[in-house]
Amino acid sequence: MTQFIIKGPNLLSGEISVSGAKNAALKILPAAILADSPSTITNVPQITDIDHIIKLLESIGTKTEVSNNTVTIDPTNVTSSHPDEKLVKKLRGSIVLMGPLLAKFGRAVFSQPGGCLIGARPIDDHLDVFRQLGVDIQYKDDCYIMSGKPKPGKVVLKAMSVTATENAIMASVLSDGVTTIHIAAAEPEIADLANYLNKMGANIKGAGTHDIVVTGVKSLKGSKYEILPDRIEAGTYLLAALTTNSEVTVGPMIPEHLELVLKKLTDAGAKFEEISRNGRRYLRTIKHNGLTAQDIDTRPYPGFPTDLQSPYAVLMTQAKGDTHIFETIFEGRFRYLEELILMRAKADILNPRTFIIHGPNRLVGTEISSRDLRGGVALILAGLIANGTTIIDQAEYIDRGYERIDEKLRAIGVNIERVETKL
Ligand code: EPU
Repeated sequence: MTQFIIKGPNLLSGEISVSGAKNAALKILPAAILADSPSTITNVPQITDIDHIIKLLESIGTKTEVSNNTVTIDPTNVTSSHPDEKLVKKLRGSIVLMGPLLAKFGRAVFSQPGGCLIGARPIDDHLDVFRQLGVDIQYKDDCYIMSGKPKPGKVVLKAMSVTATENAIMASVLSDGVTTIHIAAAEPEIADLANYLNKMGANIKGAGTHDIVVTGVKSLKGSKYEILPDRIEAGTYLLAALTTNSEVTVGPMIPEHLELVLKKLTDAGAKFEEISRNGRRYLRTIKHNGLTAQDIDTRPYPGFPTDLQSPYAVLMTQAKGDTHIFETIFEGRFRYLEELILMRAKADILNPRTFIIHGPNRLVGTEISSRDLRGGVALILAGLIANGTTIIDQAEYIDRGYERIDEKLRAIGVNIERVETKL
């Protein structure tokens, strides 16, 4: 087990770097198997979710080479359409290999994907997308057996699911005609995936909007591609800086990808300065004079991202007033609140989707446990401002999505230590 031990309170200063986006890299690496030649992907975050997806790709015959943040993927020997079942169960993101396998082989065999326990995470929308593309799906011996090359046509998503949109795109890029995808999710990571596929020779228009048109092409050629900055990691570090009322430069990042988050924070009393350097953009937080509560409800992009709900709630423990938080995406994303309450946060859970934070009040360090990635990182933010020592158990969840977070935070003045225990 990994533990983070934080001694607080902390004042941060300096600059913290933002890695490549987890939720773009997790799709772009599997998309590389659609080509006939190797791709080199740069700015890939060094996180355990990426280690898993690479192992999963290797389980179907992909050759990969990893050198720091660069991953070279050679798909020329991919022969299997049945990825390792144990790995599929470890990572919900493994679901995005279904689309590429169907496009490449007209067949994919998958067990039920696992991942962070943040509530019911069904895959019915993915299956529905594939059925609309003419794929036959049988469920046998705990596995989905999918067969048939995706046919061009019209796909309507039931909900704006991010990964189902990505699967619809990847399943269609090599088909024989035009596929239109409606009520698509519009997250920037989807546009990043489409940019990479287009660089390889695909013809995708409208990614990043709710209507996408994919004109099938005969083949794709491997390419070099740089992953976009992680908007959720950038948002997390901005929230860390504001929670501790510190002046920190965060980047590179694309501020427009956090437009509503920045609006809410500005309304609460936060101040930012934008800095441009060598063609990259950064935001610097400026010391504030106290924050006031601002309610949020999480929504698909460009709404307030569910992945920042928990660190935002920690910030609101330091704001004046009551903050109502309505989680519309995932029902199970409040598990960190029990731990925050152990740290003396004042919160009332009204129902599985709504809670209130009463602020401001001083948090106190204690031993707590991370239950999932984003809940875990919220506990780090709580540890930054708490009086005394905060011990976060099961911190390996945080390593799934944040590259070297302890090192990055130490470099801006945080008293944080990583401890590996046998248990
Ligand atoms: N949903 C269904 N059926 C499905 C798929 C989704 O009902 O078949 C529902 C979900 O239960 C949820 C909603 O649709 O209520 C939206 O889920 P979505 O499918 O958009 O989520 P996802 O694609 O599984 C991605 C990110 C998540 C992020 C969400 C929302 C990846 C690998 N994961 O998940 O990231 O929270 O979109 O933006 O891209 C994280 O990084 O911590 C994380 C969980």
